[in-house]
Amino acid sequence: MRTLVLYSSRTGNTEKVAQAIASALPAGTPCLPVGQAPADLAAYDLVFLGYWVDRGTANAEARAVMEGLHNEHIALFATLGADPQSEHGKMCLEHGVALLPDPDAVIGTFLCQGAVDPKVIEMMYKQFPAGHPHGKSPARDALHARAAVHPDEQDLRDAAAFAASVLKRLEGKG
Ligand SMILES: Cc1cc2nc3c(=O)[nH]c(=O)nc-3n(C[C@H](O)[C@H](O)[C@H](O)COP(=O)(O)O)c2cc1C
Repeated sequence: MRTLVLYSSRTGNTEKVAQAIASALPAGTPCLPVGQAPADLAAYDLVFLGYWVDRGTANAEARAVMEGLHNEHIALFATLGADPQSEHGKMCLEHGVALLPDPDAVIGTFLCQGAVDPKVIEMMYKQFPAGHPHGKSPARDALHARAAVHPDEQDLRDAAAFAASVLKRLEGKG
C-alpha cells in the first residue's frame, strides 16, 4: 500500500501531529508539507492529510490540495484551538470532509487541540470587544491556556494510534 502524509502548518502544531502519524507508518513513508506534495500524488493508495482550522474550516493552503484529492483512501487530521469534543470541533472536521471531491474516500479522522499563536490572541482581543465570543473574557483566557500545552505527548500517542488503526483497517480489507 503506497501511503503518504501531507500537512499544512503555520506554527508547527499540525506538523508535530503529522510526524507522529508518520512514525506509526512503514519506514520511509513520506511526510511532507502540502507545498511539497509529489507530482505523482494520484499514485498513492492512502493519503493522510492534515490542516489547521482557520475560521471553522481547513486553512486555505490545505483546502487547495484537498479540493483536488482523488485518492482512494483519505485519512484527515486537524488541529484547532477549541476543545476537539465541542460542536465547533465536530463542525471543523465535517467541513474538512466536505471539501474533498469524494467524502466517501475518508477512512478516518483525527482532531486535537493546538496552541493558538499568542500574537493572534492579542489581535483578537484588540479587535473584538469584551463580551464578544472572541473578545477577552475569563472563559476565553482559560480556553487559550488549555490549548497552549497542545499537542502534548498524549495527543501524539493518540495520533500514532489513529494512523496504525487506519492502516490495519485497510490491510484487513486486503
Ligand atoms: C487566523 C486563525 C484562525 C483560526 N481559527 C480557528 C477556529 O475557527 N477555530 C479554532 O478552534 N481554532 C482556530 N485557530 C487556531 C488554530 O487552528 C490552532 O492554533 C492550530 O493548532 C494551529 O496549527 P498550526 O500550528 O499547525 O499552524 C485559528 C488560528 C488562526 C491563526
